Amino acid sequence: MHVLGIETSCDETAVAIYHSSKGLVHHLLYSQIDMHSEYGGVVPELASRDHIRKLIPLVRQVLQESDLVNADLGGIAYTAGPGLMGALLVGAATARSMAWALQIPAIAVHHMEGHLLAPMLEENPPKFPFLALLISGGHTLLVHVSGIGQYQLLGESLDDAVGEAFDKTAKLLGLGYPGGPRLAALAEQGREIVKFPRPMTDRPGLDFSFSGLKTFALNTINASPKTDQDKADIATSFQSAIADTLSIKCRRALRQTGLNRLVVAGGVSANTYIRSALTKMAQGENTQIYFPRPKFCTDNGAMIAYAGCQRLMAGQSEGLEIVARPQWPLVEVVS
Ligand code: KG4
Ligand code: ZN
Repeated sequence: MHVLGIETSCDETAVAIYHSSKGLVHHLLYSQIDMHSEYGGVVPELASRDHIRKLIPLVRQVLQESDLVNADLGGIAYTAGPGLMGALLVGAATARSMAWALQIPAIAVHHMEGHLLAPMLEENPPKFPFLALLISGGHTLLVHVSGIGQYQLLGESLDDAVGEAFDKTAKLLGLGYPGGPRLAALAEQGREIVKFPRPMTDRPGLDFSFSGLKTFALNTINASPKTDQDKADIATSFQSAIADTLSIKCRRALRQTGLNRLVVAGGVSANTYIRSALTKMAQGENTQIYFPRPKFCTDNGAMIAYAGCQRLMAGQSEGLEIVARPQWPLVEVVS
């Protein structure tokens, strides 16, 4: 069965086709970065309007380049949340309408479940159960994963998500939008000489808090005029504090659960420094670590097509309603 995946939850219009036995057939992505960068961040109404412009041409293109026609599709998966309401509605309404016209099922996919399952698209996918660290622009979650739809939340950020902390700190450093990758690039030029805290690591539990790092960066920047080298040192030290904090919490979760497989996914998992710090930690814990390829760490249609395909194969079906849930806790997703 060929499943079309549609992702429009934020600032990327992304589509993909996943085949239930042959695997990923094709994926395409149109990023709105250039449009939003003028405003220093995502403008929700502009995002929705651009999804409307780009989505149907992208769907046509992904089918054409895969030598497929509408009638070859057996199902359509779409991101139903969490995300921006208007942006979600574009993907949801398009997916539902197409499915209705083609008389095939459509399935609502949770965006973070898509991220969580993205490593399944790689050559050596993890077996269940595993621990998942999901680090994106909107979420920081530690999840015990027993199977598809079997998610137990172990910890989450009480304030800013990791990606959000990267983006806000990048803005303070004058790096603009999108901040995460720019801060990571600047961090390569710096030294780890600013003593950032490792928030919430000195007390028990698996929750996170990252807003203090941004405030620490702000106070450091405001304390005295900063040279380019000083800014790079702040970036390096900030990134290292994030990597340490994530490593400490993952190590704690691995020991508490006895799990020996760790999945790291979501936009921030594209960060090479964080990837290597977590890999080092996992080696010390005799744990196998799994990441998606960098392209599938950030938002993409392949992870949505994959997650939807698994659900359709398991016989799940839904009514005809267009589902868009800007707030949707991952634990409410069931198998
Ligand atoms: O998963 P994602 O593409 O979208 C959401 O679901 O939020 O994650 C986007 C987040 C942004 O905050 C972005 O700055 C961050 O991931 N990000 C990075 C890197 N690439 C993307 N943060 C740090 N280093 C990177 N290389
Ligand atoms: Zn995402």
